[in-house]
Amino acid sequence: MLADKYAAEIASILARYPIKNSAVLPLCYLAQDEYGHLSIDHIQEVADIVAMPYTDVYEVVTFYSLLYDQPVGKWVLQVCDDNPCCFTGGEELVADLEERLGIPAGETTDDKLFTLQRVKCIGACHRAPVMQANLEFVYNLTADKVPGVLEDLIQQAQSGGTLSISGRFAEK
Ligand code: FES
Repeated sequence: MLADKYAAEIASILARYPIKNSAVLPLCYLAQDEYGHLSIDHIQEVADIVAMPYTDVYEVVTFYSLLYDQPVGKWVLQVCDDNPCCFTGGEELVADLEERLGIPAGETTDDKLFTLQRVKCIGACHRAPVMQANLEFVYNLTADKVPGVLEDLIQQAQSGGTLSISGRFAEK
């Protein structure tokens, strides 16, 4: 249980805010890093900590594209398919990644290394087309750069370092 395993970190998170509800996002990060995704039980754990209804936390989880209510791979590749990125090759990028990874957008590779997702604007239109690999932005990503980017991500995963899928470690 999060409340037992991370009692000190949870207390530290809650202490940052005047009301418990405001801690829902960092607590979702914590739960997602612990469990890999946010299932019904995991969402309920967070809801219990902040004393919110389950449905309120579920709405938060399903609103934000960096919170996952289904299992994902070690790397979640989110390709922006909003207008500026599409005008600069976003659709070609999705198609290239689908072919290289052997999965359609929305799926995870059999080795659980990559999940490929389409997302709407991630705030980097000036450097389109853009992909986010977990929390790392890859700007001006054209198909010719994809093999090198994937190889780098594979090597990072194989190095055994901590790959945060939630932003919890990126905050430090
Ligand atoms: Fe792709 Fe804004 S439209 S980052």
